Amino acid sequence: MKLQVQPLENVGAEVLGFDLNAPLDTSTANTLEALWREHAILLFRNQDITPERQIEFSRIFGSLELHPLKVKTSAEYPELFVLENGGEMDRHQSASYHGETIVGRLDWHMDLHYTARPNRGALLRAVVVADEGGQTGFGDLAKAYDALDEDTKALLSNIEVAYRFNVQRLQMRFVDNDGYQPGPHSPKKPSDLGFPDFDDSIYPAVVEHPVTGRKVLEIVEQFLDRIVDPSRAGLDDSAADALLRRLVAHTRQAEFHYFHSWQPGDMILWDNWRAMHCTTGTKPGVHRLINRTTIAGDVALGRQVARAA
Ligand SMILES: [Fe+2]
Repeated sequence: MKLQVQPLENVGAEVLGFDLNAPLDTSTANTLEALWREHAILLFRNQDITPERQIEFSRIFGSLELHPLKVKTSAEYPELFVLENGGEMDRHQSASYHGETIVGRLDWHMDLHYTARPNRGALLRAVVVADEGGQTGFGDLAKAYDALDEDTKALLSNIEVAYRFNVQRLQMRFVDNDGYQPGPHSPKKPSDLGFPDFDDSIYPAVVEHPVTGRKVLEIVEQFLDRIVDPSRAGLDDSAADALLRRLVAHTRQAEFHYFHSWQPGDMILWDNWRAMHCTTGTKPGVHRLINRTTIAGDVALGRQVARAA
């Protein structure tokens, strides 16, 4: 298979000349793995494949994880996580943004970040797409780190950040809640979504990627809570908060982002140890279906600590 690689807007790359239904030799598989390490976000278009083929393909990149939230996995294929809008679950995922009801919007995050052991990566394949909206954004936090000034890099080398799992967006400290109102069925507590309670997770502010060694700015706005013991870095609480706000603003810059508008058959593989992602959501009643497979994380990037009262 002769692959061509074309950079996406700002970050990530599109792989052209690839057909997942053709036999995949070892050298092509190795090339894809190397491209994934290099670019963190890979797009493949027009992949008309079965769930079995998606599962088989995903195994090239590591062993697959069964999502810990069993409520969302497919009964037929336990490795497949079906993301679907347009049904009963929309009730919990609807909220108002500047007066407009939007279903399934999610802030920038890394998957399973709240466990201190994020999955290595994941692969999404669009089956049914929304006519408008429903984009997925990806943000490259290795490039975000590289773009920091040297003083900030030096300061961050001595800092740990804590994340606090929360299902109420209004309680998340660093997301943009301007114009946001929860919907009538927005979750109040983790068990409303079938989630357990999670301890806080603590990460170095800069994580060295376990595979590539690249430095990754470990600042993702969803669940971001505080700097741990800021006095160690010579900061008081308000300076610590100001630093986190500055870093979040830094990660929100478009130069680190790629937003994908899905077509049926589009497939995106991303490195969840390096790239954050978000979803823009859709208007109510829009049917959208994405099949997802998850590549397991075999090391912890952070640690968990019991929540302070
Ligand atoms: Fe996610």
